[in-house]
Amino acid sequence: LRRGAAAPDLAGRRLVVSAGGTREYLDPVRFIGNRSSGRQGYALARTAAARGAKVTLIAANTALPDPAGVDVVRVVSTRDLQEAVFEASADADAVVMAAAPADFRPASYVDNKIKKTDDTSAPTVSLVQNPDILAGLVRRRSEAGGGPVIVGFAAETGDHTGSVLELGRAKLARKGCDLLVVNDVSDGKAFESTENAAVVLADDGTSTEVPHGPKEVLADTIWDLVAPRLR
Ligand code: CTP
Ligand code: CA
Repeated sequence: LRRGAAAPDLAGRRLVVSAGGTREYLDPVRFIGNRSSGRQGYALARTAAARGAKVTLIAANTALPDPAGVDVVRVVSTRDLQEAVFEASADADAVVMAAAPADFRPASYVDNKIKKTDDTSAPTVSLVQNPDILAGLVRRRSEAGGGPVIVGFAAETGDHTGSVLELGRAKLARKGCDLLVVNDVSDGKAFESTENAAVVLADDGTSTEVPHGPKEVLADTIWDLVAPRLR
């Protein structure tokens, strides 16, 4: 009965989902961005709304139709996203950070389009680190002594420091969120796709494997894991 219209299990809940990839502009026409399409975040917003929740979707540079019955807030940069997420989640029951925020931004923005010179030289772009929104949400919750369930995503490629799952466990511990949805993106799979596979790691040490399938199925599994953690 959980997902039926007769007994929507997320009725009355206020949920915040971020989606898409942030952009950090160098000049009026160029930016540093990433490959996130926003599809997984949109699937989370759609499924939550279908389960009765009041959903705010914070969308960074997505090209997808607004899900019906969802409040959509549009942002561009990581700092815009931070402001919107913090505001929307102040009185939320859960926040899912499905967006891919750019970790770095150019140290300075140039008002006019950067020009090429006649020689073969090229400019050097200096970057500075962006705020970590997820870590900030966890910090705010511990300072307030309570707050929303917090879910992070991690797109990983295994490397010499560990496998995809080992890196995911370490990231969950480092971030201090309740759940971390770990995708293996070794060969670019997941991006642009309507399908996804993941392992959802929980702070109690449990893990839930979601086989390759529609992003809605992963979304519903995430809400199934969030629901019992809601206060
Ligand atoms: N995230 C965030 N703010 C950032 C960067 C990431 O809130 N500035 C969130 C993402 O939305 C995601 C989670 O943190 O839910 C993990 O993102 P990820 O990029 O995997 O983590 P990082 O700490 O940035 O580590 P990495 O060096 O692997 O990119
Ligand atoms: Ca990152």
